[in-house]
This record gives sequence, C-alpha cells and structure tokens, in this order.
Amino acid sequence: MSIAASTGTPSATRIYARIAGTGSYLPEKILTNAELSTIVDTSDEWIASRTGIRQRHVAAEGETTGDLAYHASVRALEAAGVDAAEIDLIVLGTTTPDLIFPSTACLLQHRLGANGCAAFDVNAACSGFVFALAVADKFIASGAAKTVLVVGAETLTRMVDWTERTTCVLFGDGAGAVVLKADTETGILSTHLHADGGKKELLWNPVGVSVGFKENAPNAGVRINMAGSDVFKYAVKALDSVVEETLEANGLDRHDIDWLIPHQANLRIIEATAKRLDMPMERVVVTVDRHGNTSSGSVPLALDEAVRSGRVQRGQLVLLEAFGGGFTWGSALLRY
Ligand code: UT7
Repeated sequence: MSIAASTGTPSATRIYARIAGTGSYLPEKILTNAELSTIVDTSDEWIASRTGIRQRHVAAEGETTGDLAYHASVRALEAAGVDAAEIDLIVLGTTTPDLIFPSTACLLQHRLGANGCAAFDVNAACSGFVFALAVADKFIASGAAKTVLVVGAETLTRMVDWTERTTCVLFGDGAGAVVLKADTETGILSTHLHADGGKKELLWNPVGVSVGFKENAPNAGVRINMAGSDVFKYAVKALDSVVEETLEANGLDRHDIDWLIPHQANLRIIEATAKRLDMPMERVVVTVDRHGNTSSGSVPLALDEAVRSGRVQRGQLVLLEAFGGGFTWGSALLRY
C-alpha cells in the first residue's frame, strides 16, 4: 500500500488513529542485578532502591534492533488481524538502528513483505515511540494513510560501557509495536511533543557519523554519558508540564485518566508523575523492574503487556508519556 497524495479537501468527520493491535518482544537473555554486581561495583539493593530495576533483557550476539522490531511487529499485526500488504506506512522510533542507512524501518518493511509502502526511522532517543506515534497519527488524521505500523525498538546495551556503574545498570533491550487504523469513532485524541537541544550534554552518546566516527572506530568512545540527577530533575518537571498540557488540551480532569503508561527509566520518576495525576500505582503500568530502560521500546512494551493481561480495556482513557536525550519529551492521550 502507499501514502495517498494530499488533496487538501476539508473533511467534516474527524478521522482518528485507533490502536487495532499491539505486540512486543524481549530478547531471551536476562541479566539480573546480582549478575551485574559481579561485573561492576554495585548491588541489587542500590539499583532496586534508586531505580526500581531488578533485571533487564540483553540481545544475543548478532541479534539486532531490526530483529526485535520484526518479532514485535508480527505479533502486533496478528493481534490487529492485519496483513503486511495492507500497511501504508511504517514509522520506527530508535536511537540504535541496525545500520546508519538504510533505516531500520526499511529493513523491517522488506522482512515483513510490505515493500512499496513508506518507511522511515525517528530518532528522539527514549521518546522515540511517542514521537513516532505522533507522526503516524498526523498521517492518519490527514487522510494520507489508513493503516500504519508504529514501532519502538532498541538494543541500547550495545552502546553501554559495562565498566561504568552509573549507566550500565540502567538499560535493557526490547521492542514494542502497534498497528494504527483509521477510524471515525475513537482513537488518539491528542499528542504533545517538545525538545530542548540546549541540554545535549546531560544525556548523550558523543559519537556520530560526522563527529568522532573514524577516530573512535571500531567502538572506543561510543557510550552513553548521563548526568543522572540533572536528568532526573528535568524529567520530572517536563513530564509534569506535558501531562498538564495534555489534560488542558482535552478539557479533562486528572481523575478522568484510566491508565498511565509512562516511559520506564526510573520508578521514582514514574511515581512522581502518578502523584501529580493523583493516580494510584495500580493504575500505572510498570515494567521497569523487569525490563530496565529500553528507551523507545519501553512505552509500547508496557502498553502491550497491559493490553494482553486484560488490564487496559476498550473504551478506557490511556495516557502515554516519555522523556529522553535531546532533551525530548512528549505525550499521547488515546481512547483505547
Ligand atoms: O530514559 C532517559 C531519561 N533518563 C532518566 O530519566 C534517568 C534519570 N536519572 C536517574 O534515574 C537517577 O539519577 C539515577 C538512577 C541515574 C541515579 O540515581 P541518583 O539517586 O540520582 O544517584 P546519584 O547519581 O546522585 O549517585 C548517588 C551515589 C553516588 O555516590 P556518592 O557520590 O554519593 O558517594 C554514586 O557514585 O550513588 C553512587 N552510584 C552507585 N552506587 C552503586 C551511582 N551508580 C551506582 C551504582 N551502584 N550502579
């Protein structure tokens, strides 16, 4: 399928992007806090009390972001009852693509057998899935696409420095996906995206194609750097503000939200947002304990888990939010 040419014809009926199916995938290998404490000077007690993380999944040698994205996408397509040939567009959030180019979305498209549809990656670090979802929502709302596959997939452990305890305990690998379908009834109600490039050095990987690439080949210097407590404080404030913005844009009270599905970086950040919404933790989907921070993978992984376990039900109001390097942050409010 393909993207329709924009006609510019105004439509009386609003078109929503509705989640028709979700899927996710985690690599088989699990790395526990106890195992990590044999590699670096850390402990299960420190990691669990400061972050809520107990374990994370790590991609096998040779297993790529594209592989994780593929398995998550197959499950999402199955759940939606959609054939790959019906996809008009693939938008994939990642900061750990298989290759510099082609995009992981293009590699995924071919593997799914959806050749011909538009496909591209979005790099918004840990906010990648929320940004990709917002882009897909606009394509559907404008009438340019009817069926969109949105993916968040990462192998962040590939750029973790396993000797650096302040960062290596935080991250894991994983992917999640949703199939969006055009619907006149209900779906994504609004999305809100923000960035502040002035905070680059608080959370970054300082190597790219045109900066330090050859000097650092093959791997030295390619690593995540983070000023943890500065990021923590900024994240809490930014998420508070985007949650307020979302409620205000939709004329809603904080008590109207049925489920909060936050980015899974740190349980303490998640609890702060839940408190702001006056939301009991039973209404907050938490996976950080088992997955760690899977960056773009975290929100769709949590969403899929909540849908498959029967917690998130059709008709409920669901708030997704994320924060990541850039800085980038954003939210999506949807009626599932
Ligand atoms: O997904 C993108 C967005 N990312 C985030 O939102 C992450 C935000 N930041 C955080 O989640 C937290 O800041 C961290 C979990 C990264 C760190 O927690 P913290 O409570 O801010 O700890 P800290 O960095 O202030 O470090 C406290 C102490 C330090 O020791 P001293 O200087 O007080 O003696 C660290 O050296 O904890 C030490 N420390 C560790 N100890 C044992 C740092 N990492 C570890 C470790 N094991 N892994």
